[in-house]
Amino acid sequence: MITIIYHDSFLSVTEKDQFEEQLSLEMRFCLTPDGRVLECNKNGQALVNQFGTHFLNFFSDHVAMEAKTYLKTLSESNDIVTALLQDKVSNHDLGTLYNGFSKDGKINLVGYRTQMMTRLSAEFAHELRNPLTIIKGFLQLSEYTKEYEKYQPVILSEIDRMYTILENYLTMSFRKCNYKEMNPDALCKSIISLLSAECMVNKVNFDYDVTYSENYCKIDVNKMKQVMINLLRNALESFEGQVFEKKIFFRGSVEDKGYRFSLSDNGPGMDTDVLNNLGQPLFTTKSKGTGIGLSLCKKIIAEHRGTFCVSSIPHQGTTVSFFLPFVSP
Ligand SMILES: Nc1ncnc2c1ncn2[C@@H]1O[C@H](COP(=O)(O)OP(=O)(O)O)[C@@H](O)[C@H]1O
Ligand SMILES: [Mg+2]
Repeated sequence: MITIIYHDSFLSVTEKDQFEEQLSLEMRFCLTPDGRVLECNKNGQALVNQFGTHFLNFFSDHVAMEAKTYLKTLSESNDIVTALLQDKVSNHDLGTLYNGFSKDGKINLVGYRTQMMTRLSAEFAHELRNPLTIIKGFLQLSEYTKEYEKYQPVILSEIDRMYTILENYLTMSFRKCNYKEMNPDALCKSIISLLSAECMVNKVNFDYDVTYSENYCKIDVNKMKQVMINLLRNALESFEGQVFEKKIFFRGSVEDKGYRFSLSDNGPGMDTDVLNNLGQPLFTTKSKGTGIGLSLCKKIIAEHRGTFCVSSIPHQGTTVSFFLPFVSP
């Protein structure tokens, strides 16, 4: 199968293959600037079969204009652009979120079927109800027993869980990237303050090692924080039931063409089985999991044109790292 969107400078070769399988609800197209389909993946082919080889044909008349403007914006920009467009089959709930960039005079696009979004919304509504029920229960209990302090940590952690779920949902949907060119050290600093506070609260030993860099990366700070929060949450959740000292280590290091951020934990690690399924939307091994954290992290890193890597040794721990390219001076 041809991989169109995640080209070499964007994701490593192995990463590319994983992506192809993971995001099976994605449609990908490579277009000429005027919208003729040059290549597409299997899901994209379904649209081509139905509507022909012109991108604009995928849309009903009233959104075709939007689609045209979108193509124009893309062909004039080197940045990733995200737009929500609805395709012709929208009455079957197949609206499409397009995310694209141009390279070599071609436009590369990836679309998400909203069926997936619909499924996700249902999941999230469901997921939000659980912590809400718990919060309500504990508040009632503390009112009754007058032991508010006893229940406060649970209530706060449930509220945190709701924040994460909401943030993930928002990113998965329509929020645009807000990139700033910045020194990766600056990002490391805010990551460290975030991590050290969370680790302290959770009684986890935290340490870090950050190398100074003279170069800049293009970063959406909020999205990067979201990646770190997801990775941290996974690490903390992996410690559940662990009796020996829990440790989290953050490293920021300069590499040849970019900067690498990595987070290691000494949790239980993952079996090959789990590793193979990682990043598949909605894959989770937790009873309260949403299975969205890692696939979202991958999406955000891919939007930054970076690479994402997970390595894990059972009974020893897990390291998740991502690499962001430097902007050329
Ligand atoms: N640091 C980690 N240690 C062990 N397992 C992990 C770690 N991070 C992720 N995983 C595994 O990957 C799965 C998917 O993670 P994620 O996409 O964040 O969804 P969720 O946390 O909701 O399960 C988890 O259910 C867990 O099995
Ligand atoms: Mg998670």
